[in-house]
Amino acid sequence: MRFIVKPAALAAIAGLGLALAMPAVAQQLKPEEALTLRQGLMLALKTQWMPIGAFAAGKADAPADAVARAENVAAIAKLAPIGWAKGTENLPKAETKAEAFGAKAAAFHDDWKTFAAEADKLVVAAKAGPDALKTQAAATGKLCKGCHEEFKED
Ligand code: HEC
Repeated sequence: MRFIVKPAALAAIAGLGLALAMPAVAQQLKPEEALTLRQGLMLALKTQWMPIGAFAAGKADAPADAVARAENVAAIAKLAPIGWAKGTENLPKAETKAEAFGAKAAAFHDDWKTFAAEADKLVVAAKAGPDALKTQAAATGKLCKGCHEEFKED
């Protein structure tokens, strides 16, 4: 083995890459890989969100792990835009409307920023307790729906 990198050095390099070059990482992926990343991020978002959404809709009790889930939703919200990198328009399995890459690209990315800000509030609310969580979860869930209505194909 000639190219041994110590784990600590590797972690430092990875950390630096994450901090400085998040969008560039996605640009290095093949378009199909970026789409897999995008759809995987959305699926992860769904799994973390669902019990909170069910609680907000009055269909379930507040999940015991609401804070951890909210933190995961907030982290995914910040990562999500890398899945919509250039070159991922018009892929056969994609379900994003063309406007998200074209005329409404700025609005689409603003929607992610808004969602990330609301998800941060979700973490605060989850820590505060079930009443606060329910109110903020309703606001957060509206943003999922709103963005899908505008930018996701049926
Ligand atoms: C700012 C816009 C936006 C927000 C906010 C958003 N989504 Fe999405 N979502 C999309 C788009 C666009 C797609 C279509 C992705 C594609 O091209 O396949 C999608 C796809 C999905 C999919 C399908 C993934 C697949 O495998 O094809 C799920 C599930 C999903 N979103 C769940 C959620 C949930 C749950 C929330 C809120 C907690 C949410 N989304 C918030 C834009 C958004």
